[in-house]
This record gives sequence, C-alpha cells and structure tokens, in this order.
Amino acid sequence: MARAKARFEGKVVLITGGSGGQGRVQGRMFAEQGATVVLSDVIEGPGKAAVKAMRAAGAAGLFTKLDVTAAASWQQALKRIRRAYGRLDVLVNNAGVVSRTGIRSLPLAEWQRVIAINLTGPMLGIQACAPLMRDSGGGSIVNISSTAGLLGHPSPAYAASKWGLRGVTKSAALDLLDWNIRVNSVHPAQVADTNMAASASPGYLHANERAMPLKRQSRPDEVAQAVLFLASDESSYINAAEIVVDGGAVSIGLPRVRTLLEEDFDQAAG
Ligand SMILES: NC(=O)c1ccc[n+]([C@@H]2O[C@H](COP(=O)([O-])OP(=O)(O)OC[C@H]3O[C@@H](n4cnc5c(N)ncnc54)[C@H](O)[C@@H]3O)[C@@H](O)[C@H]2O)c1
Repeated sequence: MARAKARFEGKVVLITGGSGGQGRVQGRMFAEQGATVVLSDVIEGPGKAAVKAMRAAGAAGLFTKLDVTAAASWQQALKRIRRAYGRLDVLVNNAGVVSRTGIRSLPLAEWQRVIAINLTGPMLGIQACAPLMRDSGGGSIVNISSTAGLLGHPSPAYAASKWGLRGVTKSAALDLLDWNIRVNSVHPAQVADTNMAASASPGYLHANERAMPLKRQSRPDEVAQAVLFLASDESSYINAAEIVVDGGAVSIGLPRVRTLLEEDFDQAAG
C-alpha cells in the first residue's frame, strides 16, 4: 500500500493575526500536516518565534509583517509569497480585535477601527490573494467570524464586523466560483489561550463558562480543526457555509441558562 501524502503537502497557507492565540496554533497544525505556512501580523515577536519553531521542526514557512487594513501591506506580503513559493492555496482571515463598548457610549473611532480590522481587512485580503490562488489552480479561504456573527452581542461594532464577514464570505464564494476558490466561515465562541479571552473581565469569563453547554471555553486547537477541514480537499463540496464551533452555545445556550436559573431559584426557595 502506498504511503498517504501529508494532508497539506505542496500547499502554501497564509494566516493573518498569526502572532495571536489562534493564529499560532493554526500555523503549527498546518505545518505538522505538511503545509508551508506564512504567518503574518502587525505584531512581530510571537509570530516570528512560532515560525522559528516550525522551521526547527522541519517545516517550511516564513513570517511577514502585514496590517490587514492596508491594501499596500497585502500587496507587499503577496509579493513576498510569490517570490518565495510562487503559489498560494489557502488564506485564513483570522486577525481580529474585540470591542466591548455598548452603543450608547461607542466612540466613532472605535467602531471604525473594529470594522477596518475585522471586516475591511478580510475583504482586502480576498481581493489581494484570489488572483494568486487562481494561478495556483484554486484554493480555499476561511474567514474567522464568531458566534457574535450569529447573535446579538454587547458590542455593536464587534457584532456588525462579524455579521458583515458572514456576508463577505457568501458574496466572495459566489464571485470566485469560476476561479475554483471556496470561501467559508468559522464561528467560535470564547477561545482560551488568546489575548482576546485574557482581556475579558473575570466576571464575564465566569458567567460565560457557566452558561456554556460544555461548561468551558474551547481550546484554540478545537477551532483550528474546523479551519483545517475547510482548508483541505476533504471539504471540497462545502462552500459559502458556516461551521459553528461553540459547544452548542448558539443552539442550546438559552435552554441551558434557563435550566441553571431554574436550579438556582429552586435552591434559593429551599
Ligand atoms: N478569542 C476568542 O474568544 C474569540 C472568539 C470568537 C472569535 N474570535 C476571533 O478569532 C480570531 C483570532 O483571534 P484570537 O482569538 O487569536 O485573539 P488574539 O487577540 O490572541 O489574536 C488576534 C491577533 O490579530 C492581530 N491583529 C490585530 N489587528 C491587526 C491588523 N490590523 N493586522 C494584522 N493583524 C492584526 C493581533 O496583533 C493579534 O495577534 C479573531 O478574528 C477573533 O475575532 C476570537
């Protein structure tokens, strides 16, 4: 029997937000499965260290500084990828920032920053990367949205950016059909070991974990499994779709919280 080829052998994968909690784990997992990984971020240290570790383990890859909000920055990164590898197979639009300000006090500058990074960034990325992906025979784009792209959220800026990314996903999937590029989105709930989760208040983290049907946050690798699936040929018939990686929170979170409150009430009532 012939030895199976590594899942991403010969594939070049670009990940934005590659210095963050999820981007670094996605990068490591792609590299472990044979991909050449290009990590990118506005912050260089952790992403560079992650690429160094991948290379020490025998994988190919590089780090490139990339601000997703700037079209020129995308062009620079693409130039580097074209020169180094001559192809691009997968784009993971993973970079993102959170906002926790309600609509009554939201400064316009905060709204604009969140929309620029979380929504305009992926749109610019798809525009910049699609031609090289077409020239590589097609590919897969995975947009990291959120459960905040499926529900209301305390921050209208974060929710709007993640709902918007869902719309960009489906529109781009339609537009890129004849270039053989699939576009899908992933919707995590709270993810442990990320700067984003670390910046939440202790009370929010406690309440969130208590309400989660699986009684915990997800690990970055649990979300990355969905990203790798959508990036791989195993999902060849999945396009313009959403994978929700939330332990059931969107679908059964409300009944779960109602049960908890019912138990609390019954206990207090003796
Ligand atoms: N952590 C969570 O609980 C959670 C939940 C749902 C969705 N998400 C989404 O997952 C994605 C990954 O975030 P994470 O969880 O790893 O958080 P993180 O804060 O650890 O990482 C985000 C990364 O994005 C980078 N970034 C910010 N602005 C950028 C820009 N202009 N250009 C390029 N990079 C930029 C940051 O430097 C950081 O390294 C985000 O899109 C986020 O919205 C996270």
